Amino acid sequence: MEFDLSLIASSFPLLLRGAGLTLEITALSVGIGLLLGLLLSLLQLSKSPLLSIPAKVYVDFIRGTPLLIQIFIIYFALPNIVGHRIDPYVAAVAACSLNSGAYIAEIFRGGIQSISLGQYRAGLSLGMTNTQTMRYIILPQAFKRIIPPMGNEFIAMLKDSSLVSVIGFEELTRSGQLIIAETYGTLEIWTCVAILYLVMTLTISRFISWLEKRFRKSDDR
Ligand code: ARG
Repeated sequence: MEFDLSLIASSFPLLLRGAGLTLEITALSVGIGLLLGLLLSLLQLSKSPLLSIPAKVYVDFIRGTPLLIQIFIIYFALPNIVGHRIDPYVAAVAACSLNSGAYIAEIFRGGIQSISLGQYRAGLSLGMTNTQTMRYIILPQAFKRIIPPMGNEFIAMLKDSSLVSVIGFEELTRSGQLIIAETYGTLEIWTCVAILYLVMTLTISRFISWLEKRFRKSDDR
């Protein structure tokens, strides 16, 4: 069995396009997940069980069921309720965002709870409201602490986004499958796909390390 480099060369533009789409849905999903996660974490921490219980149930449901099944529910089951087909792109971003939001909610909750209670009390004793204390004292500090776990989440999502290949969305994994269906070049294409994922995840982890250092410096000042 020989390794056909010309096959990689001829498939590379298509694979690169797939990698671009992988990055796109990951960035969109983690971006939407960030907003959803922040909201969910604040709801979870709320004193009112009317707010905290639904948020906890949501996080438990998402983390307790496979992302693959969530994709199936949104793409195959939901159309039965809404009455029309859902575009694979929309289904992919929706499933990944809803999933990521639950994981990010836990990251935020951990970050917020890691800030000492004394800081809350200091805010309140300065006459700040609960919301102001959260907004101006707690969240800015929590944001710094969540950078490393957020990096993990981004990398995990980037790899887990390969699951949307099952609904025919042509991200990197699906592009690889389609090229192999035509060329039978399993060795070349899967190796190339793996390397492309690796390049993306390594770039992200370098970027996160840089971000961490930057924030650490601003702390030292
Ligand atoms: N692989 C796990 C699953 O199937 C996690 C997927 C989502 N990962 C994430 N970091 N949001 O449920």
